[in-house]
Amino acid sequence: MTTFDGYKKTTRIVHGAARTGRWDYSHHVVPPLTASATFRLESVSRGARGFTEFGAFAGQDAAEPVYIYDRLDEPTRGLLESQIAAMEGADFCLAFASGMAAVSAALGALLQSGDEVIAHTLLYGCTHSLLTNWYPKLGIKVRRVDFTDAKAVAKAVTSKTRALYFESPVNPTLELVDLRLISEIARKASVGRKRRVYSVIDNTFATPFCQRPMEHGIDLVVHALTKNIGGFGTDIGGAVCGSKDVFPAVMSYRKDFGAVLSPKAAWSILVYGVPTIPLRIKRQQYTALQVAQFLAKHPLVAEVRYPGLDSFPQRELALRQMRDFDGGFAPGNMIYFRLDEKKVSGVKFVDHVAKHAYCVTLAVSLGHTKTLIEMPSAMTHSAYAGAGPMREHGGIRLSIGLESPVDLIKDLERSLSAVSGARRRRA
Ligand SMILES: Cc1ncc(COP(=O)(O)O)c(C=O)c1O
Repeated sequence: MTTFDGYKKTTRIVHGAARTGRWDYSHHVVPPLTASATFRLESVSRGARGFTEFGAFAGQDAAEPVYIYDRLDEPTRGLLESQIAAMEGADFCLAFASGMAAVSAALGALLQSGDEVIAHTLLYGCTHSLLTNWYPKLGIKVRRVDFTDAKAVAKAVTSKTRALYFESPVNPTLELVDLRLISEIARKASVGRKRRVYSVIDNTFATPFCQRPMEHGIDLVVHALTKNIGGFGTDIGGAVCGSKDVFPAVMSYRKDFGAVLSPKAAWSILVYGVPTIPLRIKRQQYTALQVAQFLAKHPLVAEVRYPGLDSFPQRELALRQMRDFDGGFAPGNMIYFRLDEKKVSGVKFVDHVAKHAYCVTLAVSLGHTKTLIEMPSAMTHSAYAGAGPMREHGGIRLSIGLESPVDLIKDLERSLSAVSGARRRRA
């Protein structure tokens, strides 16, 4: 059995657990890519044992598990899952075919008809769509509350509440939710209940490098692996992490709904994405701070939100809960800003960037090596149809990549001057 006790997370995610009861990759410097949809079972009784044992929490040290079929469990994905669980400090991680498959599974494993979910007013657009367009059809009631107001969340809890769901930082506005306060609400509300209340966070924006919600008492953590953990923009994937009591429900949900991560996608996230997270995010944070400072000083910019800026409205909370593996402040790689629409149009600016910038690309998604820009109200959050928290049209989201900050600022500056110049010439 590999021992990594006493080694830092930065080292652990490079080497992983090469030899466990579930696999032996100790002869490989790079783990192999397993590609077998089904597994030889050797006897009916061994096959039957596999099905009987499936879904029970066994952890890393399961003695010779019976692999049956890729959709149930398989070793390359297992190694990725063990790496993500180690980063989050979770008992388990299960990987899914996309971030949305993971969001659906985390909630789907907890909820049944008649239950209620309390969710933050602003969520990633497809999560908003899942909660507003699908859950009512399943008899699940969704209440929307501002999670930056913990008292309002506590007040909204009823005897039917089963999950508190949110993102922090929130996509796209980067508000923070106090993890400790929300986890306490879930814990207190669970006292004396047969079916407890779970706090569930989508930690995609922060990554486990910048924030480990379970250390603050949160029950379940969801990730879109497509973003910062995959890191290179080559694969779609998702993950759910939690404690062993919820493992059987999430595992059997994945088996039956079927949205499992393919070993091929797991392999590249495992080999390229995971070991490079600290390196990529530290570099992106360094750049994000310079870009955010440039934007904050620019006369055409009305507002900039980046948790690394001194002017960030929830700076104290950011300093408290956004901490990297070594305890350093880790404000992440996402920036949200609005232009002064009286002086310049955000749409025209983004269109100019899309046409003329070399190193800022108009595209949805985030957490990649390339810097991406988008307008959430028109794109990733269009499910809000310009209502509620998305009624203020024109905010711009930037996901900082690995380019030189000097070049990113050059491209942004050029487009800002061009669109403001065009307006001045017209006037
Ligand atoms: C915060 C957040 N959660 C979940 C998702 C969904 O991830 P996927 O596109 O892999 O389904 C996204 C996608 O942008 C996201 O931004």
